Amino acid sequence: MCGIVAAASQNNVVNILADGLKHLEYRGYDSAGIAVIENENIHSYKKEGHVSELTSILGKDLASNIGIAHTRWATHGKPSEANAHPHISENSIAIVHNGIIENYIEIKEKFFKNIKLESETDSEVLAHLINFYAKDNNILDAVHSALKEVKGSYAIAVLDKNNSSEIIVARHGSPLIIGVGEDSNFIASDAHALIEHTNQFIYLDDGDMASVSSSEINIFDKDKNSVNREIKKSNISLGSNSKNGFEHFMLKEIFEQPEAVKATIQDRIINNSVPKEILGPSAEKYLDGFKVVQIIACGTSYHAALLAKHWFEKLAGIPCQAEIASEFRYRKHAVQPGTLSICISQSGETADTLSALRQIKEEKNYIGTIAICNVPESSIARECDSTLITHAGPEIGVASTKAFTTQLVALMLLIIVLGKNFEISEEIEKSLCEQLQTLPEKIKSTLDLDQEIAELSKIFSNKEHALFLGRGSHFPIAREGALKLKEISYIHAEAYAAGELKHGPLAIVDENMPVVAVAPNNVVLEKLKSNLEEVKARGGKLYIFADKKAGFKSDEISQVFEIDAPLNPVAPILFTIPLQLLAYHCAIIKGTNVDMPRNLAKSVTVE
Ligand code: M6R
Repeated sequence: MCGIVAAASQNNVVNILADGLKHLEYRGYDSAGIAVIENENIHSYKKEGHVSELTSILGKDLASNIGIAHTRWATHGKPSEANAHPHISENSIAIVHNGIIENYIEIKEKFFKNIKLESETDSEVLAHLINFYAKDNNILDAVHSALKEVKGSYAIAVLDKNNSSEIIVARHGSPLIIGVGEDSNFIASDAHALIEHTNQFIYLDDGDMASVSSSEINIFDKDKNSVNREIKKSNISLGSNSKNGFEHFMLKEIFEQPEAVKATIQDRIINNSVPKEILGPSAEKYLDGFKVVQIIACGTSYHAALLAKHWFEKLAGIPCQAEIASEFRYRKHAVQPGTLSICISQSGETADTLSALRQIKEEKNYIGTIAICNVPESSIARECDSTLITHAGPEIGVASTKAFTTQLVALMLLIIVLGKNFEISEEIEKSLCEQLQTLPEKIKSTLDLDQEIAELSKIFSNKEHALFLGRGSHFPIAREGALKLKEISYIHAEAYAAGELKHGPLAIVDENMPVVAVAPNNVVLEKLKSNLEEVKARGGKLYIFADKKAGFKSDEISQVFEIDAPLNPVAPILFTIPLQLLAYHCAIIKGTNVDMPRNLAKSVTVE
């Protein structure tokens, strides 16, 4: 988390830094700061709160050819001006840091026992350590020596008062890219921050360092050998960061889902069949030999994994486990030979998922790794054997919406390909392809519920708690609905498999407890109806999102919202849409910051 932007130019960099920070705010937004070198001195400006708070204190005539900037998501130390980056040592070295220095207390004890730190951060210690080494070394060597002492993850950009033409950068475990310009070069946590200035990027490898001036970029590996890294052209378009007339990114992204789904299936379904070539040439390594599938992910991506487990087992007869990455990485595994691992991640930089992937690659019983990811240049996409990109386009709202539905679509394409050696017949493949192709239109019709759901939110947003119920492949959708609601409206919401209700949660149902149910017209419909009767009998208020053929009618206790979701495997995707809208409208009524909800960040690149 946290966003870094830096620039060295023949021109003034202040606006480049300020604009870059605005594009990176999704990575953290509790405080922001900027440092530039002017008249051979480091000048730094910091402010608690959003980037706009910082830009409001930057003088109009502030000018410099070199600078670093940061937007923070607090890990060590509360959000405050003192804890905001850049951190400065003796007015000589300024750094911005993304990641966690795990041994910062040991470093402080070893080198700076008697120094009183100005902040509570791990990053400040690193600034002092670099300054310590810079007393006898050039700045590149100083950064290299300092980083040898460090345990943890980092992406850093360093300014040295005595070297006003170069920025030193380094990364290990946290993303950092270099943007290549004409008479300027740039550094950022991701390409969106720089796309107005360049579409040429160098993706640093883990352990790389670089010195970047307005005219030169020199890259070194972890042993300080000079190395070349390819310059890649990015396809991100200039308009992709805008709200396109919508009030919030989240709403825009909800409404983009028909197009995003279309883009994700485009060229991947040919004559109602999905060619194995969608997985690239490395698929040969695992396609014929895998026996079981294990999916690793966090948050919303984990909910996609839970639904995929149902699909893998029901449609293809392939045994499948879904694992939360942060749990997976710290437990011993009994891995079956021939296990194919799938990592799902919108950002492709989630630290827990990335770390789990790296463990998997060390273990001999895994036959291959596949990424389902929205960012082609991300670490997870690059480190897996095969990558199936979800063509959702940039997702800026912290609450994942179109990333989720396109992950599900990509997973279905994957299941079709992988399942051909198992139980997916030509007939099943054809039917699944047809369902996927009608999905964009069906999502469009489901979005028509928007106004009805906005009305419902007027009642719902007064509640402090909510229960979400679903069964089978719709239980992950109920979980995702509950996550969306708590994430942006701060209403406490929990999801249960409806059959579990009587095993405990029913105790909290009374007239103040809204219960949201996801009700497809499937084999467990009658069971679900009985579960909902249990709620009614306790006076609970029901809000039922039901397939129009499921036979629910609104009455004084239940309000029914009809969805045209024919009984087929992709139906759960459609039930996602109204739950996203419910969360959005509740958040609007509650006046929360929808796109940047409190305490969260879009890309979780720390543990
Ligand atoms: O980028 P990833 O998909 O790996 O992110 C995983 C979670 O952090 C993410 O899905 C998070 O739960 C979302 N904010 C949920 O809306």
